[in-house]
Amino acid sequence: MIGVFDSGLGGLTVLRALVERFPSASFTYLGDHANVPYGNRSSVEIVELTRAATVALFERGARLVVLGCNTATAVAARQLQQAWLPGTEWKARGHNVLGIVAPTVEAATQTPWSVTTPQYPQKNLTDIIAVFGTLRTVNAGVYPEEIRKRTPKVTVVQQICSELAGAIENEVSDAELDRLVSEGIAGVLAQTNGTAPHRAILGCTHFPIVEHLFRRHLPPATRLLSQPEIVADSLEDYLQRHPHYVSGNDGTLELLTTADDAAVISKRARVFWQDAPAFQRVIQTSDSSS
Ligand code: DGL
Repeated sequence: MIGVFDSGLGGLTVLRALVERFPSASFTYLGDHANVPYGNRSSVEIVELTRAATVALFERGARLVVLGCNTATAVAARQLQQAWLPGTEWKARGHNVLGIVAPTVEAATQTPWSVTTPQYPQKNLTDIIAVFGTLRTVNAGVYPEEIRKRTPKVTVVQQICSELAGAIENEVSDAELDRLVSEGIAGVLAQTNGTAPHRAILGCTHFPIVEHLFRRHLPPATRLLSQPEIVADSLEDYLQRHPHYVSGNDGTLELLTTADDAAVISKRARVFWQDAPAFQRVIQTSDSSS
């Protein structure tokens, strides 16, 4: 079984693409609604919450966990993969954690993750890439850092959309969502002096839920990169090389939440994914106040 984790409902955008791509694989999704949003939390908290969620998914039988959350990936993935997991019994049993920044950077730069020095033709690419993310994702700086390693002449413009993920979770009005998205895009265009970015990364898995609003306000020339599809492409490649993570799977799908009232979360989720099964409550994986 593959575990997919997000702070809340945003990771459903990734999960849905994965379920469609791998119908016979089994997935367990965990939304940490008790602690959402993560985007404005401290790095220490995000690492701890992400680690706790990963352990919760491992304990439920996931051998592979996909962090379907840019904030968790940007802040915690490296730490989990390099400092925490290697010292655990999980690693010895072949478990692994994957983030979603790497496949997104690969798609944005058309360069494999393993290639960290610029190559032709990417070497001379002078495009503008916009990245929309939470405060913590933007401050972590991983998108510009990793994009520039591969395409040094590309201009990366980052825009913090600190209220958008929370607004999506809390089902604020369409007018308010529209305002927050248009504000974010105005922030990007102010940085580019009005030049349309060539590509835009919605660097928060909540944001595809309002992709139509990004499309409405971005200049028509800007190409939106679809992170759920990018992650599905990348996982397909990974599972071809590591098929044991899905061997014996029977296509089951389970949605878990740390919220007190799973029924409320299920209702909200259906707004974004009509056919999603009901969420079940799990005991909170970690106390954010600790
Ligand atoms: N959906 C998440 C992301 O991709 C987190 C949003 C949040 O909890 O602030 O960044």
